[in-house]
Amino acid sequence: MHLIIAPIPTDDEQHWDKLFEQGLARLDEASRTKIKRYHRKEDAWRTLLGRLIVVTLFATKGVKREDLSLCFTSSNKPFILPPEAADTRIAFNISHDHMLVVVGYETDTYDELCLGVDMMHVKLPQDTTLESFIDILTDSLSPKELDDLRSSLKKDPPGATLKHIFWIWTFKEAYTKAIGQGLGFELNRISVDPSALTIQIDGSTLTGYEFMMFEVKFHGPGSDIQNYQGVLAKRLKDNKTPVRIRRKIGEWGEPYRWADSVTTWGVVTQTKYYGLGLGQTDF
Ligand SMILES: CC(C)(COP(=O)(O)OP(=O)(O)OC[C@H]1O[C@@H](n2cnc3c(N)ncnc32)[C@H](O)[C@@H]1OP(=O)(O)O)[C@@H](O)C(=O)NCCC(=O)NCCS
Repeated sequence: MHLIIAPIPTDDEQHWDKLFEQGLARLDEASRTKIKRYHRKEDAWRTLLGRLIVVTLFATKGVKREDLSLCFTSSNKPFILPPEAADTRIAFNISHDHMLVVVGYETDTYDELCLGVDMMHVKLPQDTTLESFIDILTDSLSPKELDDLRSSLKKDPPGATLKHIFWIWTFKEAYTKAIGQGLGFELNRISVDPSALTIQIDGSTLTGYEFMMFEVKFHGPGSDIQNYQGVLAKRLKDNKTPVRIRRKIGEWGEPYRWADSVTTWGVVTQTKYYGLGLGQTDF
């Protein structure tokens, strides 16, 4: 399993518009239509960047954009079937929040739909306390998750409880995205203990999945430091294999030079956005 993380542009400089148009031209018609419908530029960038990274991935495997067709399941999970000539099958899944976009992928996969990834900016929503945030999420939590969070409120520092909430949330979403149902799956059927590294569905221990927990510290504009947490989930071929959960904290490789796939003009972006300790990592 691999992850690519990239930041969206944060200023209004004109060169971003040029890059945006060039990126758009590299995508399929359905993606272009979706992206153009967004009112907010940052929403458009998030979808553009996620899909552009996917196209670039296939390009590195020698598959041309013209030979790619982005398909969607009935619950809208995107996937790409390999062209007949391709010698690898790639599974991918995309998530984005605030300023970052993440793509989880695996080459030589047995199933294009086996991955799910979710990543979130770790922050209390506005006008919310930890207590009220937990209350808001109650319907999506299992009874054990709720007990664990309430006891964490009493004994742990607030930062630890906040992280606990976001681990639970990103585990649930990564799992539901791996099964392809997204929020169509009732989230309170899933019960996660991020400390014991266990996950149950409808009260039974889950098997046949692998999970990777990851954290990113992103240096945004000015002195703004943003923390992100995420989980990458993979449905295994053998559904009896015991679940394996690993953590990958703060080990990021070379920054991912996505702009290079669009234009050679990437030098400017390199100094501005690439020295951020983000990039690609392998598990
Ligand atoms: C998928 C879903 C959980 C996304 O949640 P989110 O936290 O808001 O967004 P994320 O940033 O983590 O993920 C968004 C990306 O997930 C991918 N995605 C969309 N639907 C997906 C699904 N069903 N399964 C897996 N991935 C999906 C897309 O790539 C999307 O990004 P893009 O449109 O910009 O390319 C949510 O939109 C959802 O539940 N959708 C499906 C609901 C549905 O259609 N139900 C009908 C059942 S019949």
